Amino acid sequence: MTGDVFHLLEAYCKENSLKIFLFILFLAIALFSFIFIDPVLAAETSKAAKIFNSNCASCHIGGGNILISEKTLKKEALQKYLENYELNSIAAIVHQVQNGKGAMPAFKSKLNEQEINEVAAYVFQKAEQGW
Ligand code: HEC
Repeated sequence: MTGDVFHLLEAYCKENSLKIFLFILFLAIALFSFIFIDPVLAAETSKAAKIFNSNCASCHIGGGNILISEKTLKKEALQKYLENYELNSIAAIVHQVQNGKGAMPAFKSKLNEQEINEVAAYVFQKAEQGW
């Protein structure tokens, strides 16, 4: 009788040690990606954030617009006022940043193509997140 219980327990432990092993493996992978991949993403984002803060935030602080209050960088405003936003959001932002519009200056001589792409992707991402 005790032997039976022992065998059952043994089988149970074997099955579970595999589960525990898989669980630890999963944790290790999660931790690995957190430690090694996250800073890369964070560095990318903070680079775009820096471009935004030094070139755009003076008028668009927090995704707003200090000159024309309704023309913010929030999703609803972009959908409403920015031409072709529904068609290709990032390209539409890139176009506006390159060429400017009204009181907004053009940035194509101030920022290079890659910086404009990065800041446009940043604006898009923030608009999706709700700033
Ligand atoms: C001098 C102030 C100023 C700066 C600096 C500025 N903007 Fe603007 N931005 C504006 C104004 C004003 C508008 C509205 C233009 C219009 O439609 O008449 C605008 C509109 C926009 C729009 C369209 C939003 C909408 O709701 O119509 C986007 C996208 C945008 N800006 C992105 C940027 C980015 C990215 C930067 C930095 C690279 C930037 N802006 C820098 C003033 C500025």
